[in-house]
Amino acid sequence: MNLKPETLRAIDEVITHYPVKRSAVLPLLHLIQEDVGFISGDAIEWVATKLELEPINVYEVVTFYPMLRQKPIGRRHIKVCRTLSCALMGGYKTCETLEQEFGTHRGEISPDGEVTIEFVECLASCGTAPVVMIDDDLHENVDVAKAKELARRIKAEAAGRAKPAASSE
Ligand code: FES
Repeated sequence: MNLKPETLRAIDEVITHYPVKRSAVLPLLHLIQEDVGFISGDAIEWVATKLELEPINVYEVVTFYPMLRQKPIGRRHIKVCRTLSCALMGGYKTCETLEQEFGTHRGEISPDGEVTIEFVECLASCGTAPVVMIDDDLHENVDVAKAKELARRIKAEAAGRAKPAASSE
């Protein structure tokens, strides 16, 4: 397991909050997913060893909670709210637009590796529906035009990242 030093520190800290080590399984899985994007088989084994559990105990938790992913995701994580206010205000259309822009389907990594788009439940910004979260940033009133603009920005940033490597040849 290749975790960032700050994740390892947070893990050790979080374990101290629980009188019984094994109760820390869910927070640990969240910290790992935040760091590496998904929960691999190695991560399951690592958590089991860390909390003195059997891997099957950890695996059961991973499969029970839909927010825990067992597959890697794209470089950017796009979460489109599909709960009532957002759905009524066109969240599904927003999601379809983003899927078309990146040539991908929900839950998959786009062919350029740049994004994974997912539906999520209420992001607590119902008054500005439809809303979209890109990594840690909330975007409000994301209609089709704004979804296209966000996609354009992500692609421009990706192209910007690719440039220095190309020009150094
Ligand atoms: S319904 Fe989308 S933010 Fe609440």
